[in-house]
Amino acid sequence: MQIQNVPALVVGGASGLGAATARRLAAAGAKVSVLDFNIEAAQALAHEIGGFAVRCNVTSAESAEDAIRAARDRHGAARILINTAGIAPAGKIVGRNGPLPLDDFRKGIEVNLIGSFNTLRLAAADMMALEPLADGERGVVVNTASIAGYEGQIGQASYAASKGGVIALTIQAAREFASVGIRVCTIAPGLFETPMMEGLPENVRASLATTVPFPRRLGRADEFAKQALNIVESVYLNGETIRLDAALRMAAK
Ligand SMILES: NC(=O)c1ccc[n+]([C@@H]2O[C@H](COP(=O)([O-])OP(=O)(O)OC[C@H]3O[C@@H](n4cnc5c(N)ncnc54)[C@H](O)[C@@H]3O)[C@@H](O)[C@H]2O)c1
Repeated sequence: MQIQNVPALVVGGASGLGAATARRLAAAGAKVSVLDFNIEAAQALAHEIGGFAVRCNVTSAESAEDAIRAARDRHGAARILINTAGIAPAGKIVGRNGPLPLDDFRKGIEVNLIGSFNTLRLAAADMMALEPLADGERGVVVNTASIAGYEGQIGQASYAASKGGVIALTIQAAREFASVGIRVCTIAPGLFETPMMEGLPENVRASLATTVPFPRRLGRADEFAKQALNIVESVYLNGETIRLDAALRMAAK
């Protein structure tokens, strides 16, 4: 899809991988709406890139409906949806204090899996009503999983299961929307330098980087953004989850 003047939603776009993608989309001429729980950060980014900021909690049907409606009123219905909202909860299935509280498991599924599905279903309903473009394409969705969706580490039960769900949803949704010209792809990042990672001490980050085969460093958010734009622009990419991990295969811990 050509990006110039096309309305785009970047969900979880106030930080990290989403913010880098919002910047690249805006630079390519998209009309970007940044949807995020963190409205202050979303507003600051929207100001920087000439976009529109809306508060959105992806776990709530009502909040996502309101946010997508506000973005539609501002820019028109989006043809591009980038899903990057996510959290990385940790906890063993049975830890020192006994079984993982069910709500701790549920939280990761709610934000990462149900949240992605929530914006997918609403944005796709809008895309379906739009006129088709070249190749009959109406819209494109880029989700964010993680290589933990394939190789979940010890202590990542909720995170791994949520990301595995996003990977499974990719081909299913692509098949369902094929007849209306909406593509669905997912990026499964390895280890990226973002605020999510910056929570870890420097020595832990440095040690993580040494586990990456080549290039032996953490990924940069802009490298994720480039891949997201490549998916948007490449009409023949559909139904696939692309690992972006410098050949990293995560160990058990
Ligand atoms: N950084 C990595 O190494 C890495 C690796 C693999 C996958 N990922 C995935 O990439 C995505 C982006 O991660 P990041 O590293 O940029 O993290 P980040 O913390 O920098 O950004 C996540 C954004 O999501 C928003 N968010 C969280 N909960 C939300 C909710 N309920 N509703 C709306 N917005 C919400 C946050 O406010 C934040 O702006 C996540 O899905 C994460 O799981 C990251």
